Amino acid sequence: MQTLVLIKPDAVRRSLVGEIVRRFENRGLRIAAMKLVRFDADLSRRHYKDHVDKDFYPPLEKFIASGPSLAMVLEGDNVIQVVRQMMGATNHLEAAPGTIRADLALSTRENLVHGSDSPESAEREIPLFFGKDEIL
Ligand code: RTP
Ligand code: MG
Repeated sequence: MQTLVLIKPDAVRRSLVGEIVRRFENRGLRIAAMKLVRFDADLSRRHYKDHVDKDFYPPLEKFIASGPSLAMVLEGDNVIQVVRQMMGATNHLEAAPGTIRADLALSTRENLVHGSDSPESAEREIPLFFGKDEIL
């Protein structure tokens, strides 16, 4: 099973890439693909297609395009659920202690990581960032 993970621009700016990748590697997940990406408006609208009509979308697009993100395909048993559990709730105040967002974030928007929320989302999101030949 595979999922799309993004280490968002706030995490890259704060030099938390190593800390976050370390957590996923230590859990036993395998990195199948990895690269820096720069969101533009088009990629943001495609990636966040379920959110484009929401109030929080304009500032979300501004944030996600504010600097490079690290995109990864992670692989492992139940990887979608495992990654979502390790990320913690969207709102850092509701995220369980020990999760990435509870331990490292102070903002609901600038919340460091993205992980696909279902197998259907993963299947849709991975090709937005990676060609088949980039997934090893
Ligand atoms: P993600 O898609 O990034 O993995 O995060 P998620 O599933 O936990 O949260 P989701 O509801 O899909 O929201 C996507 C991203 O939009 C920003 N957001 N801002 N009320 C707000 O200001 C608000 N709500 C969501 C966050 O960056 C969130 O991760
Ligand atoms: Mg989401």
